[in-house]
Amino acid sequence: MNPKWWKENVVYQIYPISFKDSNGDGIGDLRGVISKLDYLQELGVDMIWICPIYKSPNHDNGYDISDYCDIMKEFGTMDDFDTMLREIHARGMKLMMDLVLNHTSHEHPWFIESRASKDNPKRDYYIWRKGKNGGPPNNWESYFSGSVWELDPQTDEYYLHLYSKYQPDLNWENPVVIDKLHEMVQWWLKKGVDGFRFDAIAHIAKTHGYPDALNPAGTPTVRAYEMFSNLENVHTLLQNLHDQVLYYYDIMTVGETSGLGPEQALDYVGDGRRELNMTFQFEHMFIDAASPGSGKWDVVPWSLLDLKQIITNWQTVLHDQGWNANYLCNHDQPRSVSRFGNDLYYRVPSAKMLATFIHMLEGTPYIYQGEEIGMTNVAFESIDNYRDVETLNYYEERRRAGVPEEKIMAAIHAKSRDNARTPMQWDDSHEGGFTTGVPWLKVNSNVMEINAMNAVKDPDSIYHYYRQLIALRKQHKVIVYGKYELLLPDDNEIYVYTRTLEDQQLLVILNFFDKEPVCQLPSGVVSEKSQLLISNYPLVKGEDLAQLKLRPYEARVYLQSLKEGAAN
Ligand code: GLC
Ligand code: CA
Repeated sequence: MNPKWWKENVVYQIYPISFKDSNGDGIGDLRGVISKLDYLQELGVDMIWICPIYKSPNHDNGYDISDYCDIMKEFGTMDDFDTMLREIHARGMKLMMDLVLNHTSHEHPWFIESRASKDNPKRDYYIWRKGKNGGPPNNWESYFSGSVWELDPQTDEYYLHLYSKYQPDLNWENPVVIDKLHEMVQWWLKKGVDGFRFDAIAHIAKTHGYPDALNPAGTPTVRAYEMFSNLENVHTLLQNLHDQVLYYYDIMTVGETSGLGPEQALDYVGDGRRELNMTFQFEHMFIDAASPGSGKWDVVPWSLLDLKQIITNWQTVLHDQGWNANYLCNHDQPRSVSRFGNDLYYRVPSAKMLATFIHMLEGTPYIYQGEEIGMTNVAFESIDNYRDVETLNYYEERRRAGVPEEKIMAAIHAKSRDNARTPMQWDDSHEGGFTTGVPWLKVNSNVMEINAMNAVKDPDSIYHYYRQLIALRKQHKVIVYGKYELLLPDDNEIYVYTRTLEDQQLLVILNFFDKEPVCQLPSGVVSEKSQLLISNYPLVKGEDLAQLKLRPYEARVYLQSLKEGAAN
């Protein structure tokens, strides 16, 4: 089972601009994070992943870095950072940095030099090409709408940006760039950070020569993500980073890798690959997209069978070969309880059920800030209340294409990244205790009901349920290392699986909807001797375990011993 500390950890993700403001300017900051470390320690998490806090002009909330070795002035100073790291360690927790190696900000001094002239020594730090037939060098489309190429009038050439035009891609074909990046990663490791989340790492290598993307019939296509995702050379580059830098430190690494299945993921995380510990996969994030090619904004109802199929595949292929990173939400996704649960009538039980699902899978569980109190999506009426660059670009593009306002706003309400970015709801005071000033993005109007203060006070809250789940992980190795097996594969309402390690077996029963289906378990998976580890409803006395009538969004986890005649 190859035990590792990072397999046993639970990670909590902080989106710092929205976590806690300490000085009333409406923007979360490092002193704010420090003031909430006791809360996180109480919750029981081991590792904090903090989204980018480097110097940045903030066109993409810090994912556009203008100095890798300085702190964003809105967030504080390097002294604040050092204090934060010390305080995290003092509480027995660890810190994972979010590092953007695919691109920088257009305000990074490297780019300022690079764009200055064609013969600038830093010209080749980025990707510059001449236009073609009066347009961009090829037909690739950016993740944030429009061409990946931006014409720079200064030298009359285009630079490549897979994300916004304020995020020019670094040229990983240039060995000098690689050296500089390695040096910088080392610099953070020497400071004592405990891991990295590598942003957009699947894209650091692009198809050589930047040819047009063609569909199988040979005609051009703009949906060309495979031209710059998970290419063979990414692995060479990561192995070099590993062997020259990461290898020397006992850290945890996770890569953001969209567009791959578990077999390909093994190329990143397979034992012996010398690349990363785990990656974030995206397959389950597309179960509510109309078609794989339609992008995220075309929302359709999702099916439990799709979810089961995807997760089962990842659980099975990676077992004993690699490691999963399990999540339902992050700063780029809608709120999990709104998307996969029921935030209208069953917010509390459905949030607990989803938490049970993630925490009982094989892999490292990730909690996104506010998920532990069941924070929900927002639906601002006007586009003026949105801040996210992806959302704003989408809105502009759809308006230009003549799509009616209501239709665009409906997609934004379902999928905008700002759903997850509204300020953390701490209490029922001014702006939910997030700031004493005016928050950079509006606080969700349900803050009076949904906030951390209420959750901590209520022993039946989602927060306390998370505490329990985390504590259980520390008590039972089977939760960390057990082998996953899907039961009732064709049931489209109930998700049931077991996890088995030596003679210990977990049984996880999850009712994913608001109906009350009867769960007919195969014989032997549960008995009177099984121990109920956790559940989101009170026990029913005298119920028939072979014919369990489940309540809406009910979740239960049983533990039994497979030793004959043993109590458990
Ligand atoms: C990743 C980040 C996202 C960011 C993008 C560009 O997908 O998670 O927030 O916009 O990379 O850096
Ligand atoms: Ca602040």
